[in-house]
Amino acid sequence: MYLQVNKLHKNFKTQQGTLVVLQDINMLIERGEFICAVGASGSGKSTLLRQIAGLDSPTTGEVKIDNQLVTGPGPDRGMVFQHYTLYPWMNVQENAEFGLKLQGLAKKERREKASHYLSVVGLSRFAKALPKELSGGMKQRVAIARALASEPKVLLMDEPFGALDVHTKEAMHGFMLDLWQRTNITVFMITHDVEEAVFLSNRIYALGARPGTVRKEIVVRLPERGHAVKRHPVFQDYRDELMELLRRHGQEAVAVAA
Ligand SMILES: Nc1ncnc2c1ncn2[C@@H]1O[C@H](COP(=O)(O)OP(=O)(O)O)[C@@H](O)[C@H]1O
Ligand SMILES: [Mg+2]
Repeated sequence: MYLQVNKLHKNFKTQQGTLVVLQDINMLIERGEFICAVGASGSGKSTLLRQIAGLDSPTTGEVKIDNQLVTGPGPDRGMVFQHYTLYPWMNVQENAEFGLKLQGLAKKERREKASHYLSVVGLSRFAKALPKELSGGMKQRVAIARALASEPKVLLMDEPFGALDVHTKEAMHGFMLDLWQRTNITVFMITHDVEEAVFLSNRIYALGARPGTVRKEIVVRLPERGHAVKRHPVFQDYRDELMELLRRHGQEAVAVAA
């Protein structure tokens, strides 16, 4: 198994007591899968992603990538967040090279790798541009190129298209699907957008809120790939099932333990 989340619990100490945010999360993800974890706002999605990224550590339980225990952040995980995390004073090329620079790669190698992944995301022509000269979708493509440049084992995405307008978002969905098919990357993405999850992933973990637990695992088998599939009854059945799950499990009382 490529990415494993085993019996993961996460509590936060608050003034009201202990807030149980994630409870007994178990996930097994194979190499090359495109996984979405879907949940309502506050269901612990970002907290889960932070544990996988190694930016925070579980109260109990563990995360393993390619059989290695996660104990902190590492270049084997590439991250893309909702809000643009590009450095405004660096051009596209420099932004794409940033992670490689941190890893101490020589300039020539850095340049080649970053240029390759800028071409993968279709932005070679914009290598010299500054982030402010790019649209929202293009900025996210730079963030994806930067994450891919380190050739991570898993691409971790936290609502990466949440801040985009509907048309850009749709274009990014097409882009992401195409990227996944071309590169065979393993993607773990979290989102509250049910249609996005059904459209992109081959498997979905539906999370319930407070405490965040996996309520259902759904294997997605669509009759076709492409935007037209959204009108297909099979697509709509997945969407309705997930909407119902989130409705049912999204609004539970806050669990406060002693
Ligand atoms: N560092 C923290 N300290 C206390 N509570 C936190 C902390 N981080 C997140 N939470 C709480 O955990 C819950 C889940 O948050 P989050 O993981 O951001 O959810 P989501 O990404 O699904 O919207 C929320 O109730 C949030 O207030
Ligand atoms: Mg979040």
